[in-house]
Amino acid sequence: MIIDTHVHLSDAKFDADRDETVKRAFDSGVTVLFEISCDPLEWDKALEFSKRDNVYISFGIHPHEAEKAKEEDFFKLESLIDGKKTIAVGEIGLDYHYDFSPRHIQREVFIRQLGIAAKHNKPVIIHCRSAYEEMITLLKKYENPPKGVIHCFSGTIDEAKVFAEMGFLLGICGPVTYPKSDKLKQVASEIPIEKLLIETDCPYLAPQKYRGQRNEPAYVTEVLRQTAELKNISFEEAARITANNAKELFLQPS
Ligand code: NI
Repeated sequence: MIIDTHVHLSDAKFDADRDETVKRAFDSGVTVLFEISCDPLEWDKALEFSKRDNVYISFGIHPHEAEKAKEEDFFKLESLIDGKKTIAVGEIGLDYHYDFSPRHIQREVFIRQLGIAAKHNKPVIIHCRSAYEEMITLLKKYENPPKGVIHCFSGTIDEAKVFAEMGFLLGICGPVTYPKSDKLKQVASEIPIEKLLIETDCPYLAPQKYRGQRNEPAYVTEVLRQTAELKNISFEEAARITANNAKELFLQPS
Protein backbone atom coordinates (compact mmCIF):
# COMPACT_ATOMS: atom_id res chain seq x y z
CA MET A 1 0.00 0.00 0.00
CA ILE A 2 1.32 3.43 -0.97
CA ILE A 3 -0.43 6.64 0.08
CA ASP A 4 0.54 9.96 -1.45
CA THR A 5 -0.57 12.05 1.52
CA HIS A 6 -0.33 15.43 -0.22
CA VAL A 7 -1.44 16.13 -3.78
CA HIS A 8 -2.97 19.17 -5.47
CA LEU A 9 -4.55 17.41 -8.43
CA SER A 10 -7.32 19.98 -8.74
CA ASP A 11 -4.63 22.45 -9.76
CA ALA A 12 -5.13 23.90 -13.25
CA LYS A 13 -1.77 22.36 -14.24
CA PHE A 14 -3.62 19.01 -14.38
CA ASP A 15 -6.68 20.24 -16.28
CA ALA A 16 -5.47 18.76 -19.57
CA ASP A 17 -4.62 15.28 -18.28
CA ARG A 18 -6.06 14.78 -14.79
CA ASP A 19 -7.56 11.33 -15.52
CA GLU A 20 -4.35 10.06 -17.10
CA THR A 21 -2.31 11.41 -14.16
CA VAL A 22 -4.50 9.60 -11.64
CA LYS A 23 -4.29 6.42 -13.72
CA ARG A 24 -0.49 6.62 -13.87
CA ALA A 25 -0.43 6.95 -10.07
CA PHE A 26 -2.60 3.87 -9.48
CA ASP A 27 -0.72 1.93 -12.21
CA SER A 28 2.58 2.64 -10.48
CA GLY A 29 1.38 1.18 -7.18
CA VAL A 30 -0.07 4.19 -5.41
CA THR A 31 -3.27 3.05 -3.72
CA VAL A 32 -4.68 6.16 -2.04
CA LEU A 33 -4.44 9.92 -2.69
CA PHE A 34 -5.05 12.75 -0.24
CA GLU A 35 -6.13 15.84 -2.19
CA ILE A 36 -5.24 19.07 -0.37
CA SER A 37 -7.49 22.02 -1.17
CA CYS A 38 -6.35 25.23 0.46
CA ASP A 39 -7.80 28.09 -1.60
CA PRO A 40 -11.51 28.75 -0.93
CA LEU A 41 -11.97 29.57 -4.62
CA GLU A 42 -10.88 26.01 -5.48
CA TRP A 43 -12.84 24.08 -2.85
CA ASP A 44 -15.79 23.15 -5.09
CA LYS A 45 -13.54 21.87 -7.86
CA ALA A 46 -11.53 19.80 -5.37
CA LEU A 47 -14.69 18.43 -3.74
CA GLU A 48 -15.79 17.17 -7.14
CA PHE A 49 -12.40 15.55 -7.70
CA SER A 50 -12.54 13.83 -4.29
CA LYS A 51 -15.66 11.85 -5.27
CA ARG A 52 -13.36 9.37 -7.06
CA ASP A 53 -12.50 6.02 -5.49
CA ASN A 54 -9.47 5.97 -3.20
CA VAL A 55 -9.28 9.75 -3.00
CA TYR A 56 -9.74 11.63 0.28
CA ILE A 57 -9.66 15.35 0.82
CA SER A 58 -8.53 18.10 3.17
CA PHE A 59 -9.90 21.65 3.17
CA GLY A 60 -8.26 24.74 4.57
CA ILE A 61 -7.13 28.30 3.93
CA HIS A 62 -3.43 28.47 3.04
CA PRO A 63 -1.37 31.25 4.68
CA HIS A 64 -0.86 32.71 1.19
CA GLU A 65 -4.64 33.20 0.92
CA ALA A 66 -5.13 34.37 4.53
CA GLU A 67 -5.59 38.03 3.69
CA LYS A 68 -8.35 37.24 1.17
CA ALA A 69 -10.29 35.00 3.57
CA LYS A 70 -13.87 36.11 4.11
CA GLU A 71 -16.20 35.36 6.98
CA GLU A 72 -18.31 33.14 4.71
CA ASP A 73 -15.22 31.05 3.89
CA PHE A 74 -14.91 29.99 7.51
CA PHE A 75 -18.60 28.98 7.60
CA LYS A 76 -18.20 27.01 4.38
CA LEU A 77 -15.06 25.35 5.77
CA GLU A 78 -17.04 24.17 8.78
CA SER A 79 -19.63 22.53 6.54
CA LEU A 80 -17.00 20.90 4.30
CA ILE A 81 -15.08 19.52 7.28
CA ASP A 82 -17.85 17.12 8.17
CA GLY A 83 -17.94 15.65 4.65
CA LYS A 84 -17.75 11.87 4.34
CA LYS A 85 -14.33 11.92 2.68
CA THR A 86 -12.82 14.89 4.53
CA ILE A 87 -9.83 13.74 6.54
CA ALA A 88 -8.27 16.97 7.84
CA VAL A 89 -8.10 20.74 7.98
CA GLY A 90 -5.24 21.97 5.83
CA GLU A 91 -2.96 23.01 4.62
CA ILE A 92 -2.94 25.84 7.11
CA GLY A 93 -0.05 27.61 8.79
CA LEU A 94 2.56 30.31 8.50
CA ASP A 95 4.70 31.27 5.53
CA TYR A 96 7.25 33.94 6.42
CA HIS A 97 9.33 33.15 3.35
CA TYR A 98 6.91 34.62 0.81
CA ASP A 99 4.85 36.75 3.21
CA PHE A 100 1.99 36.92 0.67
CA SER A 101 -0.34 37.82 3.56
CA PRO A 102 0.61 40.06 6.50
CA ARG A 103 1.94 37.96 9.38
CA HIS A 104 -0.65 39.00 11.93
CA ILE A 105 -3.41 37.92 9.52
CA GLN A 106 -1.64 34.62 8.80
CA ARG A 107 -1.54 33.94 12.54
CA GLU A 108 -5.17 34.88 13.07
CA VAL A 109 -6.43 32.71 10.19
CA PHE A 110 -4.23 29.80 11.27
CA ILE A 111 -5.36 29.91 14.90
CA ARG A 112 -9.00 30.18 13.89
CA GLN A 113 -8.66 27.06 11.73
CA LEU A 114 -6.92 25.16 14.54
CA GLY A 115 -10.08 25.90 16.50
CA ILE A 116 -12.30 24.58 13.70
CA ALA A 117 -10.22 21.38 13.51
CA ALA A 118 -10.47 20.86 17.27
CA LYS A 119 -14.22 21.48 17.26
CA HIS A 120 -14.73 18.90 14.50
CA ASN A 121 -12.17 16.48 15.90
CA LYS A 122 -10.00 16.51 12.77
CA PRO A 123 -6.22 16.46 12.41
CA VAL A 124 -4.42 19.35 10.73
CA ILE A 125 -1.98 19.56 7.82
CA ILE A 126 0.44 22.33 8.62
CA HIS A 127 2.37 24.41 6.11
CA CYS A 128 5.33 26.14 7.73
CA ARG A 129 8.06 28.03 5.94
CA SER A 130 10.73 30.16 7.62
CA ALA A 131 8.54 30.24 10.73
CA TYR A 132 9.42 27.10 12.68
CA GLU A 133 10.38 28.86 15.89
CA GLU A 134 7.13 30.77 16.05
CA MET A 135 5.14 27.69 15.03
CA ILE A 136 6.61 25.72 17.92
CA THR A 137 5.90 28.52 20.41
CA LEU A 138 2.35 28.87 19.12
CA LEU A 139 1.54 25.14 19.23
CA LYS A 140 3.10 24.70 22.66
CA LYS A 141 0.54 27.10 24.12
CA TYR A 142 -2.17 24.49 23.61
CA GLU A 143 -2.86 22.25 26.55
CA ASN A 144 -4.08 19.68 24.03
CA PRO A 145 -2.02 20.38 20.92
CA PRO A 146 -3.70 19.41 17.66
CA LYS A 147 -2.82 16.12 15.97
CA GLY A 148 -1.41 16.36 12.50
CA VAL A 149 1.52 16.58 10.16
CA ILE A 150 4.12 19.25 9.48
CA HIS A 151 3.86 18.95 5.73
CA CYS A 152 6.96 19.07 3.51
CA PHE A 153 9.21 19.54 6.49
CA SER A 154 12.24 21.74 5.81
CA GLY A 155 13.49 22.60 9.30
CA THR A 156 16.43 21.35 11.33
CA ILE A 157 16.78 17.99 13.07
CA ASP A 158 16.28 19.73 16.43
CA GLU A 159 13.03 21.30 15.25
CA ALA A 160 11.94 17.95 13.82
CA LYS A 161 12.51 16.33 17.22
CA VAL A 162 10.42 18.97 18.97
CA PHE A 163 7.48 18.43 16.61
CA ALA A 164 7.80 14.65 16.91
CA GLU A 165 7.79 14.91 20.71
CA MET A 166 4.64 17.00 20.52
CA GLY A 167 3.01 14.15 18.60
CA PHE A 168 3.22 15.53 15.08
CA LEU A 169 4.22 13.53 12.05
CA LEU A 170 6.68 15.00 9.54
CA GLY A 171 5.92 15.04 5.83
CA ILE A 172 8.83 13.99 3.62
CA CYS A 173 8.63 15.06 -0.01
CA GLY A 174 10.68 15.40 -3.22
CA PRO A 175 13.57 17.54 -1.90
CA VAL A 176 14.78 14.53 0.15
CA THR A 177 16.05 13.15 -3.19
CA TYR A 178 18.13 16.24 -4.03
CA PRO A 179 21.91 15.75 -3.73
CA LYS A 180 22.37 18.83 -1.52
CA SER A 181 19.50 18.26 0.90
CA ASP A 182 21.68 17.06 3.79
CA LYS A 183 19.46 18.62 6.44
CA LEU A 184 16.33 16.86 5.20
CA LYS A 185 18.18 13.57 4.69
CA GLN A 186 19.30 13.78 8.32
CA VAL A 187 15.69 14.30 9.42
CA ALA A 188 14.47 11.36 7.33
CA SER A 189 17.17 9.07 8.65
CA GLU A 190 17.13 10.06 12.36
CA ILE A 191 13.43 10.57 13.06
CA PRO A 192 11.72 7.18 13.62
CA ILE A 193 9.82 6.03 10.54
CA GLU A 194 6.64 5.76 12.64
CA LYS A 195 6.72 9.58 12.68
CA LEU A 196 7.03 10.08 8.90
CA LEU A 197 4.55 10.55 6.08
CA ILE A 198 5.38 10.37 2.37
CA GLU A 199 4.05 13.01 -0.01
CA THR A 200 4.65 14.64 -3.38
CA ASP A 201 3.02 18.08 -2.99
CA CYS A 202 2.44 17.80 -6.74
CA PRO A 203 2.47 19.76 -9.05
CA TYR A 204 5.35 21.23 -7.00
CA LEU A 205 8.69 19.81 -5.83
CA ALA A 206 9.38 17.02 -8.33
CA PRO A 207 12.00 14.54 -7.09
CA GLN A 208 15.53 14.65 -8.50
CA LYS A 209 14.82 12.28 -11.40
CA TYR A 210 12.11 14.63 -12.70
CA ARG A 211 13.43 17.89 -11.28
CA GLY A 212 12.18 20.98 -13.09
CA GLN A 213 9.17 19.13 -14.46
CA ARG A 214 5.60 19.08 -13.19
CA ASN A 215 5.42 16.70 -10.25
CA GLU A 216 2.74 13.98 -10.08
CA PRO A 217 1.67 11.31 -7.58
CA ALA A 218 3.31 8.44 -9.50
CA TYR A 219 6.65 10.01 -8.54
CA VAL A 220 5.98 9.46 -4.82
CA THR A 221 7.80 6.15 -5.33
CA GLU A 222 11.02 8.17 -5.69
CA VAL A 223 10.47 9.74 -2.27
CA LEU A 224 9.72 6.34 -0.78
CA ARG A 225 12.79 4.77 -2.39
CA GLN A 226 15.05 7.48 -0.94
CA THR A 227 13.44 7.19 2.50
CA ALA A 228 13.81 3.40 2.50
CA GLU A 229 17.47 3.79 1.57
CA LEU A 230 18.10 6.29 4.38
CA LYS A 231 16.36 3.96 6.83
CA ASN A 232 18.14 0.90 5.46
CA ILE A 233 14.87 -0.98 5.02
CA SER A 234 13.09 -2.31 1.93
CA PHE A 235 10.87 -0.16 -0.26
CA GLU A 236 7.88 -2.35 0.67
CA GLU A 237 8.56 -1.96 4.39
CA ALA A 238 8.83 1.83 4.08
CA ALA A 239 5.61 1.92 2.04
CA ARG A 240 3.72 -0.25 4.53
CA ILE A 241 4.79 1.64 7.66
CA THR A 242 4.27 5.15 6.28
CA ALA A 243 0.87 4.16 4.82
CA ASN A 244 -0.07 2.84 8.26
CA ASN A 245 1.01 6.11 9.83
CA ALA A 246 -1.28 7.96 7.42
CA LYS A 247 -4.20 5.61 8.06
CA GLU A 248 -3.85 5.92 11.81
CA LEU A 249 -3.77 9.69 11.74
CA PHE A 250 -6.32 10.41 9.03
CA LEU A 251 -8.55 7.43 8.30
CA GLN A 252 -9.67 6.39 11.78
CA PRO A 253 -13.35 7.03 12.35
CA SER A 254 -13.61 10.06 14.62
NI1 NI B 1 0.89 21.62 -0.66
